[in-house]
Amino acid sequence: MAHPADHPSNIFNCFLRGSPEEPFVVAQLGQSLDGRIATLTGDSKHINRAAALDHLHQIRARVDAVVVGIGTVIADDPLLTVRRVAGRNPARVVIDPRARMPRDAKCMHDDGTPRLIVRCQNGALPPGAEEIRIDDVSSLPHAVIRALGARGFARILVEGGARTVSSFIDARAIDRLHVLVAPLLLGSGKPALDLKPIGAISEALRPDARTYVLPDGDVLFDCDMRRLAHEGAAA
Ligand SMILES: NC(=O)c1ccc[n+]([C@@H]2O[C@H](COP(=O)([O-])OP(=O)(O)OC[C@H]3O[C@@H](n4cnc5c(N)ncnc54)[C@H](OP(=O)(O)O)[C@@H]3O)[C@@H](O)[C@H]2O)c1
Repeated sequence: MAHPADHPSNIFNCFLRGSPEEPFVVAQLGQSLDGRIATLTGDSKHINRAAALDHLHQIRARVDAVVVGIGTVIADDPLLTVRRVAGRNPARVVIDPRARMPRDAKCMHDDGTPRLIVRCQNGALPPGAEEIRIDDVSSLPHAVIRALGARGFARILVEGGARTVSSFIDARAIDRLHVLVAPLLLGSGKPALDLKPIGAISEALRPDARTYVLPDGDVLFDCDMRRLAHEGAAA
């Protein structure tokens, strides 16, 4: 189990900025050296090593809500709780526009933590879960952040998967992106990101980034996406 003192100093200071009026949004992705988050058969476990997993739990312990897409719930059935470090569980939020939530999804189990489902159509709600109703799927990233802010959540982690994180980046809805790269080549499989296509390298997103080599060799890219958000707003 990692101790906060083992961790690159000050990396979480920026998290203090969030408020319900303007939530701080951090996204994370753990990926192979060649930018994959799963094999073609969907195997995604053990790409990253222990320190990267500790880092993910450190983030969960510092946010008010963790958001995943329904694809991740169906593929991995994650708990989305804080287990590898000390800390409180964040609220669990699943973006599920077409109401595909499996009836026994672990992240929807009632352990006293708020559970919210973002939907565009009707479906059965797990006991004790709350619906966030969105009419227009294209408004999703910003509408989700607004709805979570309105419920008092000041810090939000967008934990995956690929489509969800990509849509938040394309919408310029991310303040910080943490990419945890493992020195491992999958050679094929699911790409970590699939952003809107560009024609020229000059159009690429180039965030200010700091890198940290974690104790067991994975590398953390801590990317400040705020400058991109401002460029997007001005365009
Ligand atoms: N390495 C990591 O850090 C990490 C973390 C989490 C997950 N994963 C992996 O990621 C994979 C799952 O990723 P994924 O891309 O298939 O699924 P995903 O991003 O978890 O979920 C995508 C689905 O969520 C809904 N959705 C989310 N954002 C949306 C938006 N802005 N607009 C419209 N719909 C939205 C859509 O549901 P509908 O299609 O039903 O409309 C979409 O198909 C799994 O293999 C999992 O293991 C990796």
